[in-house]
Amino acid sequence: MAKILEKRKVRPDVYYIRLDTPDIAEHAKPGQFVIIRIHKNGERIPISLADIDPERGSISLMYMTVGKTSTELSTLEVGDEIKDVVGPLGKPSHIEKFGRVALVGGGFGVAPLYPIAKALKAAGNEVVTVMGARNEDLLLYENEMAATCDEVLITTDDGSKGIKGVVTIALEEELKKGIDLVIAIGPAIMMKFVCKTTEPHKVKTWVSLNPIMVDGTGMCGACRVSVGGQTKFGCIDGPEFDGHEVDWDLLMSRQQMYLKEEKEAMELYECNCAPAS
Ligand SMILES: Cc1cc2nc3c(=O)[nH]c(=O)nc-3n(C[C@H](O)[C@H](O)[C@H](O)COP(=O)(O)OP(=O)(O)OC[C@H]3O[C@@H](n4cnc5c(N)ncnc54)[C@H](O)[C@@H]3O)c2cc1C
Ligand code: FES
Repeated sequence: MAKILEKRKVRPDVYYIRLDTPDIAEHAKPGQFVIIRIHKNGERIPISLADIDPERGSISLMYMTVGKTSTELSTLEVGDEIKDVVGPLGKPSHIEKFGRVALVGGGFGVAPLYPIAKALKAAGNEVVTVMGARNEDLLLYENEMAATCDEVLITTDDGSKGIKGVVTIALEEELKKGIDLVIAIGPAIMMKFVCKTTEPHKVKTWVSLNPIMVDGTGMCGACRVSVGGQTKFGCIDGPEFDGHEVDWDLLMSRQQMYLKEEKEAMELYECNCAPAS
């Protein structure tokens, strides 16, 4: 059981929660994730660590309400308990002094970049973040990133804030100035195009993959991805991989595998006729 210590609605469809999880907070590292199950009949969903606070014994998560479980999670309030929080899972981000590092975030991907940015700064790197959204209202963690990084560049599709266009436009300019490493977290399509942008510059690009996950321990095979022609499991071999080696088409097709079932589960939940839990 993990108690919700703090909850904020960051945007109409995005929530921040801080959970009382001393054991996880003690061992967790940037780049890792947890799998949560709200109640005993609930689905298990992976969520990245948006912050780790070993002193207060808590972890923070930022999630988007995209379907049944994330919507149900958004109905829990401070003081409520989540049945299971399993973690920390996955391999931590590799942190060392690389030089000038560009972090590229889209959607909820900016949240897991925050602890990574703090660790990279502590290791002596110059950290430039490029964060993108469709419009200004959809930007996340802007203040936190600005307080942590040397520079934050914002792109919006409609030009309502920062550079008009997609994140790769701003990234291209930074690559020309000199970048030693790129870490991208966000929708698969964004990460794919970040990799296409960095490839001609021969800059190592780590991406955090988000395949469908079930157990998170390498047992079920649900999170199978292809990297460098080899089958890897997102949950134990990743979630971070060399983006230039990822088979993006396979990842994106496997992410769509359960769309029909996910839609049905959401419809049942919305009409309040889901099986009792
Ligand atoms: C390593 C990892 C870290 C993630 N971190 C975050 C995060 O920090 N914040 C956030 O908002 N989301 C995160 N996600 C995605 C999150 O797990 C899904 O949004 C969530 O599972 C949706 O569940 P649902 O029942 O609300 O929606 P559904 O209607 O069930 O699914 C909506 C979409 O979410 C994805 N999804 C559904 N079930 C799973 C599953 N078991 N595993 C992975 N993806 C799934 C699919 O693409 C699906 O089409 C992460 C996923 C992974 C693999
Ligand atoms: S989620 Fe089951 S093997 Fe990775």
